[in-house]
Amino acid sequence: MNVLGIESSCDETGVALVEFSGREPPRLRAQALHSQIEMHQAFGGVVPELASRDHIRRVVPLAEQVMREAGASLADIGHVAYTRGPGLAGALLVGAGVACALAAALGKPAIGVHHLEGHLLSPFLSDDPPEFPFIALLVSGGHTQLMRVEDAGRYELLGETIDDAAGEAFDKSAKLLGLGYPGGPALARMAEFGDARAFELPRPLLHSGNLDFSFAGLKTAVRTQVMRLGSNVCEQDKANIAAATQQAIVDVLVRKSMQALRDTGCRRIVIAGGVGANARLREQMNAECAKRQIRVHYPALALCTDNGAMIALAAAMRLQRGSADASSDYAFNVLPRWPLATA
Ligand code: KG4
Ligand code: ZN
Repeated sequence: MNVLGIESSCDETGVALVEFSGREPPRLRAQALHSQIEMHQAFGGVVPELASRDHIRRVVPLAEQVMREAGASLADIGHVAYTRGPGLAGALLVGAGVACALAAALGKPAIGVHHLEGHLLSPFLSDDPPEFPFIALLVSGGHTQLMRVEDAGRYELLGETIDDAAGEAFDKSAKLLGLGYPGGPALARMAEFGDARAFELPRPLLHSGNLDFSFAGLKTAVRTQVMRLGSNVCEQDKANIAAATQQAIVDVLVRKSMQALRDTGCRRIVIAGGVGANARLREQMNAECAKRQIRVHYPALALCTDNGAMIALAAAMRLQRGSADASSDYAFNVLPRWPLATA
């Protein structure tokens, strides 16, 4: 069985074809991606209307490319999956509309997928897929959550950010330092040359005892440091602030993840979402997990940020369990805000 997946929730158009049979982890046959980063860079962030228009331009050529590279024909597609939410309404509507139109033309069911479910299941496409149950740390531009994952489709929210997401903290701090968009990778590159101890930054809610996060205060502290240095700020200062910011975010993410593992007794953790690509986070997470003999799983680096493969995969895993939200009436509504625990 083949599932074509379409991702269009934010600034990446992703399409992929995934194949599955029985209960084996699904296999990625081909994927294609167009990132809008260059287009949005001039504005310092994502411009929703431009994002939607670009998804319209890209999605069909990307789908054709995927089918060509997989050596598959339209008749091979059993289901068409799309990101139903959360994300930008206009951007989501493009993927949903195209997916439902294609599914209707093929006479096959369409499946709306939760974007974060795609992220947290993405390690199932790696050579070392996790086993259920596991803890998932979801760290993206819009979300920071700890979940207990019993099985595909069975999610319990353990804690989440009460204000900014971890990726947002990276992006906003990078902007304050005059680094480009998206800020996460730019700040991480700058941090390589910095000394994280040169500036003291807060680690909000580190000792709160619960599994919630807060990153808004960190951004304010970065702003204060940048303003204090004013026009005297040199490249080394910037690198030091970048390193200190990254370290503060990583410390909180790792500490809360260890607490979630301890509280639940789970012995595995999956790190997913764009911030999961951060090398410092991986290094510290690996070290802390090794100490406790916890298995840690990551998606392939290319599947950390948004992509179509994770959407096709999530739909395939739901189909394997008979819990996919497959519809053949081709009516769709997107859900810009959608808690994963209710998906
Ligand atoms: O999952 P994702 O591609 O999109 C959302 O669903 O939000 O995550 C994007 C976020 C952005 O905030 C970006 O700055 C961050 O992930 N990011 C990183 C790195 N690569 C991407 N943050 C820190 N270090 C990185 N290497
Ligand atoms: Zn994402």
